[in-house]
Amino acid sequence: MTLELRTAGESHGPALVAIVSGLPAGLTLDRDAIDHDLGRRQRGYGRSPRQKLEQDRVEVLAGLRHGRTLGSPLALVIRNRDHENWSWGMSPWPPEGDATGKGATPVTLPRPGHADLAGALKYGHDDTRDALERASARQTAVQVAAGAVAKALLRQIGVGVGGRVLEIGGHALEEEWQGTTDAARAGRDTLGGIVEVVAEGVPPGLGSYAEKETRLDARLAAALMGIQAVKGVEIGDGFALARVKGSEAHDEIGPDRRRETNRAGGIEGGLTNGEPVIVRVAMKPLPTLMRPLRSVDLESGEPGEALVERSDVQAVEALAVVAEAAVSWELARAAREKFGGDALSDFLGAHVAYLERIRWNA
Ligand SMILES: Cc1cc2nc3c(=O)[nH]c(=O)nc-3n(C[C@H](O)[C@H](O)[C@H](O)COP(=O)(O)O)c2cc1C
Repeated sequence: MTLELRTAGESHGPALVAIVSGLPAGLTLDRDAIDHDLGRRQRGYGRSPRQKLEQDRVEVLAGLRHGRTLGSPLALVIRNRDHENWSWGMSPWPPEGDATGKGATPVTLPRPGHADLAGALKYGHDDTRDALERASARQTAVQVAAGAVAKALLRQIGVGVGGRVLEIGGHALEEEWQGTTDAARAGRDTLGGIVEVVAEGVPPGLGSYAEKETRLDARLAAALMGIQAVKGVEIGDGFALARVKGSEAHDEIGPDRRRETNRAGGIEGGLTNGEPVIVRVAMKPLPTLMRPLRSVDLESGEPGEALVERSDVQAVEALAVVAEAAVSWELARAAREKFGGDALSDFLGAHVAYLERIRWNA
């Protein structure tokens, strides 16, 4: 028994969709809680006006009845409200009438740092929009919706997951984040940053030892690297552990099998060890600059400036929410593998029986 997620959707197409399979029947979902996370993803000081335009809301087309999961695949939809301005340019079918609105003019100047060039080459597109629309991080909206569903399941076994910003543009102090974002905006530049996600109440024994598909650290790294613009992931003290001695690197085990330190970030040997799971994620500066970088016109071969499209200055606050969703998803998936069950009560019963067997006070 495992959770699976499939998504589809272009940034300015009609909608984003997700199919979530492997949930137990009988899990209560709260529409407001999902929409709350969608709203958290859209807020943040460095976001573009598009975020205000859209106000994402989840729609459920299948798998839910009267707010409770049926055990069948859950189908989620988030409409792109901005699509009305792109209805000719992003029409799924051949559009009628003269070219009008956004997306009507082909884009031939790929943006460095985006999928534009390699995507157009790989798939044989003349208009890089055919690549960049799917490559866009707009897609993270449905991942946040799926993460909110995962969080609902995790809450049932007492696991809470939270993401927060540690740094923006190299500044660790919150008071400096607005100023540094304003300065980047004024310079028509962009910023990156670092976020941290902590999961509390995770039982020992999620994940396994030896393969990248089963080790939880490998799975978390893959889930987080799967987010656009993420360029580094560390578990616990991560890179810093490479610079200290063993006596300063590991977490000694107390009589109650708990630890006073958590340098391992709650994972040893690919398994959760019962301490909070801690991951940090590095995000590169966003690649669409209002002062465009040099590029080449794919049609004429002439040098030019990359496409300028409305874009965020930084999206580090948003990344904290997306990373929280990714960690929640991966932990929920590992919990489904460990505890199974078609009905929620089976899943919860297996969790309780396991904690009793290992005499673990959650
Ligand atoms: C929440 C979020 C919002 C983003 N917003 C933008 C944006 O407004 N402009 C932009 O150029 N890149 C944005 N990105 C990053 C790009 O989507 C990403 O850098 C690009 O698709 C290339 O992928 P890569 O950086 O993983 O190589 C965002 C990423 C995330 C996670």
